[in-house]
Amino acid sequence: LEKDALDSFESAADADAVEETRVRFLGAKKGALKDVQKMMGGIDPSDRKAAGMRLNAFKTKLQESFEASQSRLGGGEASGIDPTFDATLPGIRPNVGHIHPITQTINHLMEIMGRMGFEAAEGPEVEDPWHNFVALNIPEDHPARDPLDNFYLATASATQAGSEGSQLLRSQTSTVQIRVMEQHQPPIRVISLGRVYRPDAPDATHYPMFHQMEGLYVDKHVTMANLKTVLRVFATNYLGGDVQIRFRPSFFPFTEPSVEVDFLWNDTWIEFGGAGMVDPAVFEAVGYDPEKVSGFAFGLGVERLCMRRHGITDIRDLYSGDLRFLRQF
Ligand code: PHE
Repeated sequence: LEKDALDSFESAADADAVEETRVRFLGAKKGALKDVQKMMGGIDPSDRKAAGMRLNAFKTKLQESFEASQSRLGGGEASGIDPTFDATLPGIRPNVGHIHPITQTINHLMEIMGRMGFEAAEGPEVEDPWHNFVALNIPEDHPARDPLDNFYLATASATQAGSEGSQLLRSQTSTVQIRVMEQHQPPIRVISLGRVYRPDAPDATHYPMFHQMEGLYVDKHVTMANLKTVLRVFATNYLGGDVQIRFRPSFFPFTEPSVEVDFLWNDTWIEFGGAGMVDPAVFEAVGYDPEKVSGFAFGLGVERLCMRRHGITDIRDLYSGDLRFLRQF
């Protein structure tokens, strides 16, 4: 039996043959070894000890022979190695996520403005009409408060959309100017980066949610020249090269004078947002004395900045969730 078993293990040509041999000799139910074990009962008690020792030695031998044949064939459970494993194949890379391009842009903008001494401030995305409109010198009958141009919320406290009580998703980050000035005295030098909402139909350059970078600088003797310098230094840092900047006359209820801000980039003037000198009515709304302080404010489109810098042509790509697009940044 021993020779038969050892020969079988030795000559087994593949894993199946090894397994078959294992079952035939070492099998827990019908293995030949089991039969031998059963015969132990019939052995004279005086010989039983010696017989048991021989049986154990035999068993060990078979086990060793089995393991040897397994490793000879380079497989089997005992070796712990999957026979189909090929160490020379390229590995499977784990999927590592990364930061969304808009968040990357926000971080970059905060860093650039931080170097010029602007601290980051935050405000809520659900706003009341006071911070989104009234304190910003936008009275109740102003077209900017039209329910068709804003996302008013259907809350319990809402009376008529657009009226004093109704909350809305902020349509501009200028709300944070008010919140900061209500809580702090000048000098103030802050930026606020966050989402704003307007019911625009999505196309290549519009999306009902986008981000703005609001800037506010309030101190004694702040001038339009300071505003222009800050924006030029900012644009030069963010877009690279010596970016030229242009102001075009405009109107915002909360700045006087007001301008549209264009940057010259690759020989084209592109509008990035609005700016101006803080209107005295805004200072009065937050309890500042307009005779004693002056300041500038600006609001730039974050998507626009990000898209320019990375050559993105459709804002919807940023929010499609398409990993083929997002993985490029
Ligand atoms: N809040 C304005 C907008 O959303 C931009 C702006 C900010 C203009 C600050 C002037 C000063 O278009």
